[in-house]
Amino acid sequence: MNSVWWSVARASGIVAWILMSLSVLWGVLLSTRVLRPADNPVWLRAVHRSLASSALILTALHIVALLLDPYLAAAGFDFASAATPFASPYEPFAVALGTIAVYLLLTVALSSLAIRALPHRVWKGIHYLTYAIVALVSFHAALAGSDAGKPWYVMISTAALVITVIAALTRRLVGTVSASRTVRPSRPDERIRVVVAGRTQLADGVVGLRLMAPGRTLPTWASGAHVTVYLPNGLERQYSLCGDPAIRDSYEIAVALGENPGPGSRWIHERLAIGDSIEIGRPRNNFRLHAASSYLFVAGGIGITPIASMLASVPAGRDWSLVYLGRSRRAMPFADELERRYPGRVTVYARDEHEGRYPIVAQAAAVSAEVYACGPGSLIDELAGAVPSARLHVERFVPIAAGRGKAARPLEVSLVDGRNFRVPANRSILDVLEKAGVQTSGSCRRGVCGSCEMRVIDGRPLHLDSVRDDADKDESAVIYPCVSRALTPTLVLDPDI
Ligand code: FES
Repeated sequence: MNSVWWSVARASGIVAWILMSLSVLWGVLLSTRVLRPADNPVWLRAVHRSLASSALILTALHIVALLLDPYLAAAGFDFASAATPFASPYEPFAVALGTIAVYLLLTVALSSLAIRALPHRVWKGIHYLTYAIVALVSFHAALAGSDAGKPWYVMISTAALVITVIAALTRRLVGTVSASRTVRPSRPDERIRVVVAGRTQLADGVVGLRLMAPGRTLPTWASGAHVTVYLPNGLERQYSLCGDPAIRDSYEIAVALGENPGPGSRWIHERLAIGDSIEIGRPRNNFRLHAASSYLFVAGGIGITPIASMLASVPAGRDWSLVYLGRSRRAMPFADELERRYPGRVTVYARDEHEGRYPIVAQAAAVSAEVYACGPGSLIDELAGAVPSARLHVERFVPIAAGRGKAARPLEVSLVDGRNFRVPANRSILDVLEKAGVQTSGSCRRGVCGSCEMRVIDGRPLHLDSVRDDADKDESAVIYPCVSRALTPTLVLDPDI
């Protein structure tokens, strides 16, 4: 009679095989951007990681169960013979295929853990080993599995084979197409002429503007997006869209003067009137709302603007709450409206109404919800120090002080078209490329807006921007060259992202 360990080994081996095949297929769908043409959100990548880690865990269980099986032990199968290809007394060739597959699997897993330390090209090359792994595992299962030939086993083998063939075909067909076209449908710095159709005093020092493009609908956007406003005096400023993404004929933004108003916001407050015409950029989004079962939204002052549109986008049935902090309720736009619309979910904490500070950092650290925060740098820094980065999503108005005080080093930048540039220590990559006539985008030039994003083909970027999480940028292989530099002497970039 088969031992229980033999059954565990068979079950875990088969499930690991299926999960590996699904993980390869999912990885191909991500890399070819079949699932999302513009960008792969975190949850899609999390599915890929979960499939791969589950396959790894079940592979480990498969090996342990084989080592514990009394029949194999009696045949002389032990750890040394399992770890050394062709040394197994039982089915040496078939076991060797499995052993080599495990080594390759560990190499892929370790390269994924070290993704930030490896050049993207190296990481990608190692990832291609997954095709070899699935092939080795398939032959291993066909030759060593005691169930080979049984109808259910043939069905599972066929399913794994079909999944792998679909992955390979997708890579071949779609991958080639996406490599030859721009991944994003158009560079988002296309300008749109709009008129100011409404102007409202939302709170003390905060005006709301409704912008319309006469005779046309405006580009779609998702909550968390912002637009660049190009003012007639030559200034460019970014403002979050705070209306309802479902409304296609107008955008709403809120402009705060704050304690130290910038020239752009001051100009809007003092000069921009209903009927005036200005240009804006297409919406960009560095602060997307990802799927989760519960959310804690934290807004500080004018940081409520992207959060306000997120509240309208949270799917029904999700658990969420908002903590909205500010100096005075009179200067907090949407405070009363949000309390009225979402009773029981919204906490407005104005400092002039309460003693002491609201314990938002402790609350955010204690809950298990995804935390979305927008507000002053000090608030974001405190949250970043207490909330695990995996569940903290932030948008900053002002750049973080990354790299400040450190001497920049010159570097070489190569573009995918073969052109090479020397970037001196005192100039940004974006500046050098622009002056050389390379077609680029760039708005804030402070590493905040994300408009200058470029793809990193090789080399390790030194991220000095505040656009998104460093791990996220490394995983997407992007750099914001208006401020960021390199950890390696050379970077190979593709400006046409
Ligand atoms: S220009 Fe804004 S992030 Fe680079």
